[in-house]
This record gives sequence, structure tokens and C-alpha cells, in this order.
Amino acid sequence: MEQYVIKGGTPLVGEVEIGGAKNAALAILAASIMTDETVTIENLPDVRDINVMLHAIEGIGAIVDRIDAHTVKINGSTISGMLVDYEYIKKIRASYYLLGALLGKYKKAQVALPGGCDIGSRPIDLHLKGFRALGAEVDISHGLISAAAEHLEGTHIYLDKVSVGATINIMMAAAMADGKTIIENAAKEPHVVDVANFLNSMGAGIRGAGTDVIRIVGVEKLHKTQYTVIPDQIEAGTFMFAAAATKGDVMVKNVIPKHLEATTAKLLEVGCEVEEFDDAVRVVCSKRMRHTQVTTLPYPGFPTDMQPQMSVILGIAEGTSTVTESIFENRFRYVDELTRMGADIKVESNIAIIAGVERYTGARVSAPDLRAGAALVIAGLAADGITVVDDIYYIERGYEHFEEKLASLGAQIEKVSSEKEIQKFTLKVS
Ligand code: EPZ
Repeated sequence: MEQYVIKGGTPLVGEVEIGGAKNAALAILAASIMTDETVTIENLPDVRDINVMLHAIEGIGAIVDRIDAHTVKINGSTISGMLVDYEYIKKIRASYYLLGALLGKYKKAQVALPGGCDIGSRPIDLHLKGFRALGAEVDISHGLISAAAEHLEGTHIYLDKVSVGATINIMMAAAMADGKTIIENAAKEPHVVDVANFLNSMGAGIRGAGTDVIRIVGVEKLHKTQYTVIPDQIEAGTFMFAAAATKGDVMVKNVIPKHLEATTAKLLEVGCEVEEFDDAVRVVCSKRMRHTQVTTLPYPGFPTDMQPQMSVILGIAEGTSTVTESIFENRFRYVDELTRMGADIKVESNIAIIAGVERYTGARVSAPDLRAGAALVIAGLAADGITVVDDIYYIERGYEHFEEKLASLGAQIEKVSSEKEIQKFTLKVS
């Protein structure tokens, strides 16, 4: 198993380029099969989840032509099977976006039911409620979701909870339904807007994405397009927090500052300086950070995908902070690992009470999930001594060349796969 080995204590300094948004790209790849013409997608992040989604799309018979690491051409005209196999779903839940895409285009789809996940149970009842409201018969048996409809009829859907996945999945099915659909209490994340823009570039009639009411006028057919995925606001936020944790000075390039407002606001609150440019932000942190309170909320609130990273920087801030996780029920699994690095954190139900300590000390830790793994790397970069992070395949699901980008900012970090290599690194840096 590969690991990251890190020698902490070096301030990150320099410039880093942010890649395409994983969570926008996953849905856009699924939506690309909704036309029989060829779709070109650029600025894809070259990460594990994207590659699994591309295999799932090939698995149902579409033609996938990988032009380069960040560009793909997809043609859905050759799709033969409407069944998305469990092997893809168990690797990435987001392959359930093919449900909305296939139902919209072919009026039938079968996708394995996603199981639980590292950060919570993550039901998909709202997705299915939306498909049924559009007139689809939806059954679950033998671990498979089967959805089918003579035709889909536009309707008025109210989402009981703000859900990114349900908003996007229903939007895709409604894009090729008969008539008008209104989605109330819709998620407003930048990636919801990106998927709507992508579908509109294929000829869909979607208005209001980015607000909590999305109006969709269904169309018969969708056509080819060439589309560039937006920058990943969570990758950007992760590097901003790494700069803060190491008291560095980093220019994070190729971002949309508006998408980072909640993240930036918290860095200012704890005492960092953040300078915004058209497509970049510069984070400078020269002194010990201050405590604050954070609650994760749907966009434009503070993103749950930045919650572990927030706890890591508050863990070495002065004073006592609280981090409240309001989206997922099990997103504090990293706390035990961080405690092994010297953190003083108490979790009571969905609130972490964080008593800031002077510094972390390097230790062997394991990544419990994607964002928590990235957060533990940030802790290692700030820690005294050597940290080894295990189970880094979680991190590679959503971060492209993570250790290389950090090393280009001066971090002493390497990807290794043996004790011998860890010893070699330790000797080299000591
Ligand atoms: C997306 O997950 C992201 N994943 C997650 O990012 C992100 O944390 C989440 O949105 C919130 O921003 C992708 O886009 C692939 P939700 P999603 O539906 O769509 C409940 C990462 O690190 N819910 O907005 O699954 C759900 O349990 C990942 O990149 C229902 O109850 O999130 C949760 O409590 C982790 N029923 C809340 O809603 C449903 O039918 C929000 O979930 C759907 C969701």
C-alpha cells in the first residue's frame, strides 16, 4: 500500500495551479451520454473517481476517447446496456448520476444501489422521489434500482432536504422530460451550476441553477458540445488551509474567488491575510491563528468538504473553537488520528470542541476518507517531526498529484511504498 511520508515544519511558499472540480466533472461525464453526438470535456481532474466514472460509461457501451489526462471525448450513441454494475457504484457513489442521465434519455435505467459510505449512511431517497414525481416507476430489489417510464412528465418537486446529488440527478432526468419541471429547495453549489451550464450547452432549457428554485423546460434531443469544467473549490480550499497551517505564503491559481467566500471568510477570522485576484487568491499567515466557531452548511455556507481541514488548523490555533457538522453524521473519524498527533479535541454528537495546542507532533496515521486524509496531510506539514499517512488511495480519489503540488511549494513530502523508503526519507531530511 502506498503512503505519504512528511517532514513537517516548512512553511509553504510559492504558486499552485488548481485542477477541474471533481464533483462537477463526475456529473458532467454522466450527462455527456444524453446525446448521440460527440461531447468534448476539458479540464477534467486526473483522479481515481473520474477514471472509475469513465470506466462505468464505457461499461454501458458508450465510446470514451481519452485525448489526454484532462480531456475526453464521449459518444453515447452506442450505449447498449442500461445497467450500471455494482462494481462501479461500490467504487464511487456518484455513478448513480447515470440513473438520471439514462432515465432522461432512454426512459429506463438500472443502477446498483449505493451502499453506506465512510462519512455517513447517505440515502438516495430524494433522488428516487424526484424520478417518481416525473412519472417513473422506481423499484429496488436485489440491490438494484430499476427506473422506467413510458414518458417523463415535467412536474413541481420540493426537496425535503438540500441535496447536491438529488438536485443534479433530477435536473438531468427533467432535461428530457415533456414539459416544465420546477425543483424547489435545490442545492446551489457551483457544481450544480456547472452541470446546468453544461446541459444548456447541449441544448437543454435550465434556468435558475445556483438559486433554490431551478426551472427546466424539457427538450426532445440534446446535441454535441465542447465544455470546460470549473476549478475545484475544495482542492483550492485545501491548499489555502495548508498555507495557513504552515504559516506560509501561497498563491492559489486558477480559481473562482466567489466560490471560495466561506473558506476565505474563516481564514480571515482566524487571522490570516487573503488577497483576491481575478482567478487567484493569495494566502499569507505569519502568526499563530485565533480560535473561531464553524458550522458546515449547504452552499454558500461553509462547505462540509472543508470541515476536516478546518479542524486541523483550529487544532493548533490559540483558544477553544467549535466545529459543527450539520450535513453528514459521521464526519469526525479523523479526530482519533489527529489526537495521536497531539490534538485536544472532544466530539459530542455533531460538534467537535477543539482546544488549540502549540503544535502537532509527527505520527503514523491512516486516512479514514478523502477529505479527512487531505486534512491529516496538512497536520503532518505543520507537525514537528515525521508523519506517515496510510491509505492514501482515499486522497488520490479527489486530489491530482497532491504530494507533487505540495512539494513544489517547498513541502518535504514523498509518496512511498515500503518501510525502507520511509527510513531513506527520514535519513535524507534529518
Ligand atoms: C455531494 O455529495 C458531494 N459528492 C460530497 O462530496 C459533498 O460532501 C456533498 O455533496 C455535500 O456538499 C459529489 O458531488 C460526488 P448531498 P451528495 O446529497 O450529493 C442527505 C467529497 O468529498 N440526503 O448534498 O451525496 C445526505 O445524507 C464528497 O468530494 C438524503 O437524506 O450530498 C446528507 O446528509 C464527500 N437523501 C445531505 O442530504 C438523499 O436522497 C446532503 O447530501 C440525498 C441526500
